[in-house]
Amino acid sequence: MVIECVDVSYRYQGSGPWAIDGVTLEVRPGERMVITGPAGSGKTTLLQLMDALVLPVRGDVLFDGRSVRDLAARRELHAVRRRAGVLFQFPEDQFFHQSAYEELTFSLRNFFGSDEKEIHQRAASAASYLGLDTGRLKEVSPFSLSTGQKRRLALASALVMEPEILMLDEPTAGLDPAGRKDVARVISSLGETAVVVVTHNLEDFLGVAERVVCLDAGRVVFDASVEDLLARPDIARGYPFEIPLVVKAQQWLRAGGLELDGPSWDMDGLVRRLRLLAGMPENGE
Ligand SMILES: Nc1ncnc2c1ncn2[C@@H]1O[C@H](COP(=O)(O)OP(=O)(O)O)[C@@H](O)[C@H]1O
Ligand SMILES: [Mg+2]
Repeated sequence: MVIECVDVSYRYQGSGPWAIDGVTLEVRPGERMVITGPAGSGKTTLLQLMDALVLPVRGDVLFDGRSVRDLAARRELHAVRRRAGVLFQFPEDQFFHQSAYEELTFSLRNFFGSDEKEIHQRAASAASYLGLDTGRLKEVSPFSLSTGQKRRLALASALVMEPEILMLDEPTAGLDPAGRKDVARVISSLGETAVVVVTHNLEDFLGVAERVVCLDAGRVVFDASVEDLLARPDIARGYPFEIPLVVKAQQWLRAGGLELDGPSWDMDGLVRRLRLLAGMPENGE
């Protein structure tokens, strides 16, 4: 599914400030996009526009070329929403079932009615993808899981519908470093699924993103590929926030004439690469 925001604006009150102010942006099938920006810059609002949870005040959002206004008038928005998996911030705060398994299968039940076999197959496949076991999920309350496990369960609940596009609002918020890496690893292994991640922490998703879009006061102030961000300091200078250290380090090394065969997404990876280049044994050997 192609999602196009066309000069789209949104505000919460009739005459208040614009939360999203003239954004034009296209998400292509299979694309991996990170949307970043300071608190209040409009990231969550943009995600809600891209999932047709709110309708634009000005401009338009097109889903495979069809206007969201038209889809709303014809009551066909559900067809679009079904193809997108959305995870809002702290999704575990919205758990409400007694067992983790019921939590996981909630949307499947709405969709497949009582076809238990289909439900179980899909649930088992999404769960195993996240290293969760449906047998255990049937026995535990979702509230008794650790924060990292809760987040995995929420991710599995979004993946269970096999969405074409997954939209995630701050999916690493509140997680420890291991949990954050875990979420990024899951997202980067999603195959064909398009992913839009909203985060104020670009570094968590350097290995996931193909493209970085940055919002400020409801406007797009930066839109570039991660490769360009890594390789071209001139483009990186346009990025309005602190560039992650791992990106700056690679720019310095490249500027100093060092050939790095490929990008590194975290300092561990970069140091490992440098040690190899220097002929040192790998860490821990
Ligand atoms: N429900 C709401 N009612 C009124 N204003 C809101 C609401 N949600 C967000 N806003 C305002 O819209 C702007 C963008 O908010 P938001 O999209 O949540 O930004 P971000 O996700 O980048 O922090 C902010 O100025 C915020 O105060
Ligand atoms: Mg937000």
